[in-house]
Amino acid sequence: MLETGTADCRIVVMVSGGGTNLQAIIDGVESGAITNTKIVGVISNNKNAYALKRAEKSGIPFRCVSPKDYASREIFNEELLKAVDEYAPDLIVLAGFLVVIPPAMIRAYQNRMINIHPSLIPSFCGKGYYGLKVHEAALARGVKVVGATVHFVDEGTDTGPIILQKAVEVKQGDTPEILQRRVMEQAEWKILPRAIDLIANGKVTVQENKTIIEE
Ligand code: GRF
Repeated sequence: MLETGTADCRIVVMVSGGGTNLQAIIDGVESGAITNTKIVGVISNNKNAYALKRAEKSGIPFRCVSPKDYASREIFNEELLKAVDEYAPDLIVLAGFLVVIPPAMIRAYQNRMINIHPSLIPSFCGKGYYGLKVHEAALARGVKVVGATVHFVDEGTDTGPIILQKAVEVKQGDTPEILQRRVMEQAEWKILPRAIDLIANGKVTVQENKTIIEE
């Protein structure tokens, strides 16, 4: 329920794969765990992403913008930004979006674009750390605690201001797949909806590459 005088925070969710994080956001909005928020669009670079089916099932407008459909990366970058702008979002949520974000888009949405990363930044992040590779690296190093991070997106890779983090235990015998699933269930699906709710309710400010959260 909206308070008098407040407007919904319009969010666009960008995806490439299964969309379990998107589902956690949809469920959060439906259950009221996320307030003051409307998912106005879902964008995927991959037309076969199951995430798009999730959007369709929930009646959320969606579209695919794939680099494969454009003559150059520059044209794709322009079209991607145009597609995002058309939804007029207050906040962009990268939920497993595997495409490098165009610099112009990062500038246009400074402190208005967040990402979920499946590790406790600054461990296992940066170039090359995505998907299962993150969990493979954590197991190879033998760490006992892993987790997930929600952060604002800046020009670097996983370097923006951290909003929320949650730790998850590594267990004997974990495979990358088992660990990935536990990190999603225990961390990602909880902190991503929570971060959106905090931002949508004006509780997050950025100061000198750090966030201040008013709980
Ligand atoms: C998640 O592990 C997320 O942290 C990473 O990509 C994966 C997306 O999974 N950035 P899903 O599409 O939300 O199921």
